[in-house]
Amino acid sequence: MDKNEEVIQLLKTYEQEHIVQLLEKLEGEKKEKLVDQINKIDFHQMMELYENTKKEIEIKENKIEAIKYLDKEKLTKNEKEKFEELGQKIIVSNQYAVVTMAGGQGTRLGHTGPKGTFKLDVYGKGKYLFEILAENLKEANKKYDTTIPWYIMTSKENNDETQEFLEKHNYFGYDKNNVMLFKQGELPLIDTEGKMLIGKDLKIKEASDGNGGLFLSLRKTGMLADMKEKGIKWIFIGSVDNAILKMVDTTLLGMAIEKNVQIASKSVLKANAHERVGVFCKMNGHPKVIEYTELPEQMAEEVDNNGELKYGESHIMCNLFTIDAIEKISKEPLIYHSAFKKNSYIDENGKEIIPEEPNSYKFEAFIFDSFEIFDDIAILRGKREDDFAPVKNKEGVDSPKTAKELYEKYWERQK
Ligand code: UD1
Repeated sequence: MDKNEEVIQLLKTYEQEHIVQLLEKLEGEKKEKLVDQINKIDFHQMMELYENTKKEIEIKENKIEAIKYLDKEKLTKNEKEKFEELGQKIIVSNQYAVVTMAGGQGTRLGHTGPKGTFKLDVYGKGKYLFEILAENLKEANKKYDTTIPWYIMTSKENNDETQEFLEKHNYFGYDKNNVMLFKQGELPLIDTEGKMLIGKDLKIKEASDGNGGLFLSLRKTGMLADMKEKGIKWIFIGSVDNAILKMVDTTLLGMAIEKNVQIASKSVLKANAHERVGVFCKMNGHPKVIEYTELPEQMAEEVDNNGELKYGESHIMCNLFTIDAIEKISKEPLIYHSAFKKNSYIDENGKEIIPEEPNSYKFEAFIFDSFEIFDDIAILRGKREDDFAPVKNKEGVDSPKTAKELYEKYWERQK
């Protein structure tokens, strides 16, 4: 069988005849590109993911417990000093790196372009989200007399634009040699019949594989190897869209070291039972986050003996991992969640169809599904006004307006 026949056979096995038809129409470079793409896709995995969309998400509540945490406010002076000392040691000895997950676009904000290029209207002049992050890291570098390597995860869609933006703004004064961009992976979009969508470029239409794609990408792009070569022991992984995210928190880091765990996370108390955040818990004895889209209502509203939400520790995307933990996770497949969305595609007559209703599944891995691989996690409860100013929606909750207020109030208090 020649190469082309093999590809056709593969497509037929997985009932993707519409792609066979497309392939037969194409010639030259276009055909080669499609064949290359087909060869990179794991069809077996994709069909398994498609089959999973038909199953209910099952959460066995009897195996779920509330998570234990330490409240930063309630630490004793001794504890605080000890944690800080342990944390500082790692940073001053250049064993700390930061990863920013910036693969997302600002679509929900009504911003065209990478989310990090969104300008938050603070102090009149405004600051870009990337600028705010760079300032946070530069401050830590000054304090600890070091330069923390900064890895930025982009996506195929926004990598070039992100690179150009950072170049144009001279990396907001960050040492360019210590800023490393790497791309996250993609997975095909599948319609309700299990067929992969075809895009305008006459290739199989793919979309980012979610922020949990980070671990595999760190390995594949050589960033993990780069971290090892630099002697990095602890890696902070955070989002691009929290205007007061603390990427270098020595208390959190020291606490993780003292507790001898491989992963740690900062939480804040959920604002209300239905806030759109993931919540921590323990499932079958392992740490876990249940995303807001998957949290049963009864669990969301359950209160403990003190009247506090039982599952009230919010995941604010402020996570720490040892290098060994990342190595381990990058070798294990994370589960994929599916989202039913509207995606345009090219039909069998070559016409572009823009659906009015959701028509296809996007598959995404979530960073926090990696927590379950470990026996324990150290959780430090911070304070919303000090740690969490998300920029998610165009208006209302978690909007540029609320984030601006939180940002300005936070910096006012630091004076
Ligand atoms: C996310 C968390 C949620 C948490 C909330 C706090 C997940 C799945 N959910 O929700 O538990 O309570 O933040 O603010 O993590 N990103 C990529 N590539 C992707 C998708 C996302 O880099 O393919 C990045 C985004 O740029 C952003 C971060 O991941 O920095 C969060 O992304 P988003 O998908 O918007 O998650 P939320 O729904 O806000």
